[in-house]
Amino acid sequence: MFTSDDFQRAANTILDRLTIQPQIGMVLGSGLGKLADELHPRTVIPYAEIPGWPASTVHGHRGNLVIGGLEGQTVAVMQGRAHFYEGYSMQQVTFPIRVMKALGMHTVILTNAAGGINKAYRVGDLMLLEDHINLPGMVGANPLMGPNDETLGERFVGLAQAYDRSLRKKALQVAAWHDIPLYSGVYCSLSGPAFETPAEIRMLRAWGADAVGMSTTHEVLVARHASLRVLAFSGITNCAIDQVDGDLETNHQEVLEAGEIIVPRLTTALKGVLNDFPP
Ligand code: HPA
Repeated sequence: MFTSDDFQRAANTILDRLTIQPQIGMVLGSGLGKLADELHPRTVIPYAEIPGWPASTVHGHRGNLVIGGLEGQTVAVMQGRAHFYEGYSMQQVTFPIRVMKALGMHTVILTNAAGGINKAYRVGDLMLLEDHINLPGMVGANPLMGPNDETLGERFVGLAQAYDRSLRKKALQVAAWHDIPLYSGVYCSLSGPAFETPAEIRMLRAWGADAVGMSTTHEVLVARHASLRVLAFSGITNCAIDQVDGDLETNHQEVLEAGEIIVPRLTTALKGVLNDFPP
């Protein structure tokens, strides 16, 4: 278990390198790290230089915290994240979110690569998370388990309004304005690292999931525990396979390739939200 001293130590290491305090944290998922190149001017801090910060071992996750200006805001952008399936604990994978709180941020914007379960979704589409199903969390892999530090947040966290309504509304306006395909849907997280079986995909669809991935929901829990505002996007990198008799197989390469289509759309949407950030 980490303590607030650990989060503060990491925050101080970051602040020592900066002249301006970031207000908004961002996590860029698989294949989406390029968005950080938009920040000007920017400071790049490798995860390995921040005490306690987990490094991602996955291809497509660059492993830097990039802090800089974007559309009039000062943002701290994570190029990649650590995952539960890499062997980290839920406390470790959510460590950066608690550091963002210790840095004095008010909002986190989370992104991920996800498989489309909703039959309308196409590769390259964006989905705004309006709700989630946190399967690992529901069965015990929940980052809020264990002793609760009341200085960080309350024991019992309500999640009926986890995804900030005014931020979602702004994102939808920006997407409509720029003709970007942006759905609103339910994201289901699984631990991974194996992709789902067709039977699992049919089950998740019946349960109301629109997209599936291996991250994000535990970050949302920790962010809401810390009263951070949350906005989250999935980039649909592949259409989840729901039949056993085809020739298709989901793979990480297609996830990374779809990032090429998704990054420009996501960049436009995020810049639009930052440019006219709702109070
Ligand atoms: N399943 C789980 N995680 C994913 C997928 C998927 O199909 N695509 C990208 N991340």
